[in-house]
Amino acid sequence: MSSLKKKLKTIIGLVVGGTATFTGICIYHGNEKFTNDVLLPLVHRLDPETAHKAGIWALKANIYSKHKPIEYPNLRTKLWDLEIPSPLGMAAGFDKDGEAIEGLHQLGFGFVEVGTVTPLPQPGNPRPRVFRLLEDGAIINRYGFNSCGHGEVFNRIESLRNQGFNGVIGVNLGKNKTSDDPIADYVAGVNKFGPVADYLVINVSSPNTPGLRNLQQKESLTALLMAVLAARDKLVTTRKVPVALKIAPDLTEEEKKDIVEVITHPKCKVDGLIISNTTVSRPGSLVSDHKTEVGGLSGAPLKDMSTKMIREFKTMTKGKIPIIGVGGISTAEDVIEKLEAGATAVQLYSAFTLKGPFVAKEINSSLSELLKKSSEVKVLP
Ligand SMILES: Cc1cc2nc3c(=O)[nH]c(=O)nc-3n(C[C@H](O)[C@H](O)[C@H](O)COP(=O)(O)O)c2cc1C
Repeated sequence: MSSLKKKLKTIIGLVVGGTATFTGICIYHGNEKFTNDVLLPLVHRLDPETAHKAGIWALKANIYSKHKPIEYPNLRTKLWDLEIPSPLGMAAGFDKDGEAIEGLHQLGFGFVEVGTVTPLPQPGNPRPRVFRLLEDGAIINRYGFNSCGHGEVFNRIESLRNQGFNGVIGVNLGKNKTSDDPIADYVAGVNKFGPVADYLVINVSSPNTPGLRNLQQKESLTALLMAVLAARDKLVTTRKVPVALKIAPDLTEEEKKDIVEVITHPKCKVDGLIISNTTVSRPGSLVSDHKTEVGGLSGAPLKDMSTKMIREFKTMTKGKIPIIGVGGISTAEDVIEKLEAGATAVQLYSAFTLKGPFVAKEINSSLSELLKKSSEVKVLP
């Protein structure tokens, strides 16, 4: 090799190595500005699923371990009997396989919902199946419950518990695409995760599994909830694990009334509602190229739709069923809006993808300030 080529190779090596080391050091030392201003735009150049995988990898590798969450005493609150350091949790779908639970707590999420988990492993829909709508502050996904299955997720949560991890973990349950007994799939989820989860979620609202949302219909929902709650009541656990129902934002008025009728029946009385999943509607305001992709829309365009639904269900259930509010949250003001509409706690997903890994930290900090400043805002129990 000529000496010029050798020199060139050395220079390229130094530049690449130096950049990688600098990036690593910046992340490790928690340089939020660098992450938000330099890394995030680069990550947004990757295809969204690859970027998501990189995010999970980074959290698994504990690269944010310097980021111990800051405790804000005025954000501490309760979700059922569970003490949480912040009312803001990570919504289902980001950590489908329970690989990043600890890292997400470190980034400031008060609780983490893993899943949706299906009984058997399944690959989900073909790629591409997730799209960023940057101009709209939104995402469309049609993942279709890609899951490594109950066994693997259970082992991960159990091993975290054995290591003494005591953060709040919810497990969001689904059914396999080809299952001919959906109720049995959910009951299997309750039996498997009841002993290790802090709460369970019956997800009948994802738009990407054919027929799933029909389980929100009166008769099917009654049969499903009776079976699931009976299984939960039979579990031999130190506490009765709360079971929440996650619903879609696209329900008709009739369907909403039916759901309230079902969940207030003594044998189907769930402990909570999660409002809402992604929408199959496409508001006229969308401008991004990907707006016509098939799947569930989340992020900013979902915000008011889900807040309105929280308010409606709060009234229809006479405030007796705790609600976790989710849909389009990306600021502390959005959190307050959902809490004022009647949510006990809230979650986000899209803003984590669009605004970067420190979004929960930023929201916690300004939420704490807002709650201190305003005597009007009394939204936490
Ligand atoms: C890429 C992606 C995958 C999702 N996967 C799931 C899922 O597996 N189960 C589920 O209940 N919700 C899933 N959701 C819905 C979110 O949990 C949440 O309800 C919805 O995105 C609204 O919140 P957001 O606007 O903050 O994203 C997913 C959302 C996104 C963006």
